[in-house]
Amino acid sequence: MILNNSLLLSTLCAFAVASPLLKRDSCTLSGSSLSTLSTVKKCSSIVIKDLTVPAGTTLDLTGLASGTTVTFEGTTTFQYKEWAGPLISISGSKIKVVGASGNVIDGQGAKWWDGKGDSGKVKPKLIKLVLTGTSTVSGLNIKNAPHQVFSINKCSDLTVSNISVDIKAGDSAGGHNTDAFDVGSSTNVVIQGCTVYNQDDCIAVNSGTNIKFLNNYCYNGHGISIGSVGGRSDNTVNGFWAENNHVINSDNGLRIKTVQGATGAVKNVNFISNKISGIKNYGIVIEGDYLNGKTTGTATGGVPITNLVMKDTTGSVSSSAKRVKILVVNASSWQWSGVSITGGASYSGCSGIPSGSGASC
Ligand SMILES: *[C@@H]1O[C@H](CO)[C@@H](O)[C@H](O)[C@H]1NC(C)=O
Ligand SMILES: *[C@@H]1O[C@H](CO)[C@@H](O)[C@H](O)[C@H]1NC(C)=O
Repeated sequence: MILNNSLLLSTLCAFAVASPLLKRDSCTLSGSSLSTLSTVKKCSSIVIKDLTVPAGTTLDLTGLASGTTVTFEGTTTFQYKEWAGPLISISGSKIKVVGASGNVIDGQGAKWWDGKGDSGKVKPKLIKLVLTGTSTVSGLNIKNAPHQVFSINKCSDLTVSNISVDIKAGDSAGGHNTDAFDVGSSTNVVIQGCTVYNQDDCIAVNSGTNIKFLNNYCYNGHGISIGSVGGRSDNTVNGFWAENNHVINSDNGLRIKTVQGATGAVKNVNFISNKISGIKNYGIVIEGDYLNGKTTGTATGGVPITNLVMKDTTGSVSSSAKRVKILVVNASSWQWSGVSITGGASYSGCSGIPSGSGASC
């Protein structure tokens, strides 16, 4: 712990707690106790350096002053406890979160992994963001999250860039439900330039407005997903743009799933110039029959999928996969062009494709 006495505190953190925040205030949190966190939180530049977060506690960086910078340096780890987390929580407006060169946030997921994901041992989520007002998060290197990685809820005007999520070890050690980016009830969020190796969705958008997912690489997981939409308090996705992503060796490439019997809307969705390869189940899958984690085979139309552009999706699926599955009711205003997927087979049960859209199975 660096800030464990008042002398060091006054040296490293050149301000009195009661004084206004100054630009030069930089405070470091290190070691294995959070006892100085409440003081450090008031600094305008916070450095988290080689920190071990005590078991069952959140590294609570909520309510930061507008304009605060948080830098993760060295290795951040977490002691073991079965609990839901989050291990890190960050909130505020105009916040800049950066990873210093060589940083690692190591969730040491193997301690929790039991192959059961959402059930079995209670596993903590890694990072909750409630960031607004042109906040940025960039350059973090996340390893081996026990469970879902980023919860992006009630965020607005947030850009997340250059994040590495590496949970490759989970493939053989029982990692499951390790979604990289879960987005809900958020507006104007951009996620770009990230690389993800995991065992669930690369991104899953349950609700939100104007969400962009650009220039990312997604490996080994479940692909790029809207949904499942329906059955929550917020059931509208209005404006999703996925462009120039690569989805590799994943269960699905591009997916929209809406909940059977639910109401809501999925509209103004653009999948542009995405590349897929080694896809195991479906290259593109758009379905309105999702219920309790499964597809039922009977789609309903209470969550209509409208104004969908699917343009220049190219690549291949594996031999046992289907190229495109569409099973929807009440869909309209789709425009498909340049969809060219090789390998696998066509899916024979497609229905509900808007006529004149150019889409086919
Ligand atoms: C992301 O990485 C690219 C390539 O290394 C770099 O040019 C860019 O400045 C980075 N952006 C951020 C926000 O870190
Ligand atoms: C189609 O969507 C509209 C608008 O949400 C809704 O009013 C209607 O009931 C839906 N139709 C079906 C067949 O689900």
